[in-house]
Amino acid sequence: MTEALSHLPGELRIAPSPDELFDQLAQTLVNAATRAVGDREVFHLALSGGSTPEPFYVRLVTDPQYRAMPWQRTHVWLVDERRVPETDERSNMRMIRETLVEHVPIRQRQVHAVPVEAENPARAYERELREVIGSEAGATPRLDFVLLGMGDDAHTASLFPHSPALAETDRLIVGNDGPAVTPPPRVTMTYPLINAARHVAVLLTGGKKAATLRRVARQFAEAGPDVEQLPITGVNPLAFDARATMGWYLDAAAVGDAVEPTT
Ligand code: 6PG
Repeated sequence: MTEALSHLPGELRIAPSPDELFDQLAQTLVNAATRAVGDREVFHLALSGGSTPEPFYVRLVTDPQYRAMPWQRTHVWLVDERRVPETDERSNMRMIRETLVEHVPIRQRQVHAVPVEAENPARAYERELREVIGSEAGATPRLDFVLLGMGDDAHTASLFPHSPALAETDRLIVGNDGPAVTPPPRVTMTYPLINAARHVAVLLTGGKKAATLRRVARQFAEAGPDVEQLPITGVNPLAFDARATMGWYLDAAAVGDAVEPTT
């Protein structure tokens, strides 16, 4: 198993328990933010929804160890969103506000909700992202840190197996809908944007993800990426820029067997 995991792009960060894993991830995040602010005076952070990161967000904002996080210089973006109002329990923005944003000194204008009620939310969000992050002419804007999760079907963000958004090679944000997409309709970052990030972190905890992780690892080991069946295999920022980094943050249960933790 560990042998197969070594074929995942980037680095493996394995901890015995979710709490120890959250510590590793929080430390990596604070370091990345501090470096970004030192280099460019701003830190662009894209966060996922789902249940896995919730306790991580709570930890990040409540543990005094992470007080150095430069929230005043941070912009929070959403990796994906469901097309529901923020009053709906399924809203990612709602969860991220409740667990994180409401507890840190960040200006509201630095918190970028997907405008779910706009006529074309994806287009509006892409415009906002391009304006705020900026980039050299023709280049893709670069997020500093993207936090991803993975579903049991190996979807990541709202990039579901066999769904239309997988084929996008140009737009940075798209709507994703249809029979392959778990309702409600979604708005999601695409591979071109995710893979242009300076750091991508995939956070997986719990035994429910172990079998899928094994499939993903085997796919990399035996045949290489297959985005249609296993969308997370399309994530690889190192292929875009060799200085980019990627980490798989796994607790022992997600790995599925006893391996040497890196903490
Ligand atoms: C979302 C996510 C999605 C999530 C996975 C895993 O908004 O739901 O961005 O890609 O990361 O579905 O979800 P869990 O963490 O709940 O298993």
